[in-house]
Amino acid sequence: MNDDVRRYIYGAVIVFLVGVLVWVGIVFVNACGFSLACNRGALPVDRTPIPTLIPATMPAMEMQGSEAVMTTDACYVAAVDLIGAWVEAGSSETEAFQFTDANGQNCEAAFEVVLPLFVESNLWYSGSLSCISCHSVDVAISPAQLDVSSYAGIIAGSRRADAESNGTDILGAGSWTSSVLYEFLTEARADVPGHTEALSGLMVYAGTPLPEPEETPAP
Ligand code: HEC
Repeated sequence: MNDDVRRYIYGAVIVFLVGVLVWVGIVFVNACGFSLACNRGALPVDRTPIPTLIPATMPAMEMQGSEAVMTTDACYVAAVDLIGAWVEAGSSETEAFQFTDANGQNCEAAFEVVLPLFVESNLWYSGSLSCISCHSVDVAISPAQLDVSSYAGIIAGSRRADAESNGTDILGAGSWTSSVLYEFLTEARADVPGHTEALSGLMVYAGTPLPEPEETPAP
């Protein structure tokens, strides 16, 4: 009789302990959505999908003897002069144009170095909007009905009736300093948003130097 009571008590204690263990186990596993492979308190490792950007303007390293030297192949020029040289050379989409850079070097570039000046933000001055944040593809809503987001848009000009038609030539028919674009880049207009500052100060690295003309030996 005594033994029976003892067996009951031991039985109840064991059942209780097993129950507690099972419960804790369930709670533990459940905390991870029923998986044992989780970090609990540890922070998950997040890898950013963006690879570290290397500034495109970093001059290339070159070895001279055993020393690494920075050499910059690019020409250094005022952005307004760069656009001007492109305009004066006939504003071709594909053909290269030449210009003299700020150091007097003869250089060559193509439209592909001109377009980013209209497309990139934080370029003309710190925090500046890109031109295309206002003058974009949809000429119906773009100020001055001007789209500078592409070659075709720049050539089509401003004050366009619709996407199909051309408007006013902003490139001054090849005469840069008398063009509307030159005027809006170099003159501040207090009453026109986006143009309250003259943008002519920007210098850029663009294009490649042309080889020096061979010196003709004196006869
Ligand atoms: C914040 C918006 C904004 C930004 C950014 C902006 N513009 Fe403008 N732009 C305007 C407005 C507004 C006008 C005047 C529209 C009008 O007179 O109807 C204008 C006018 C012009 C005109 C004159 C067109 C004409 O026929 O009168 C040119 C050219 C121009 N912008 C080029 C640029 C270029 C190039 C950039 C980039 C460097 C730029 N804009 C950045 C808003 C902007």
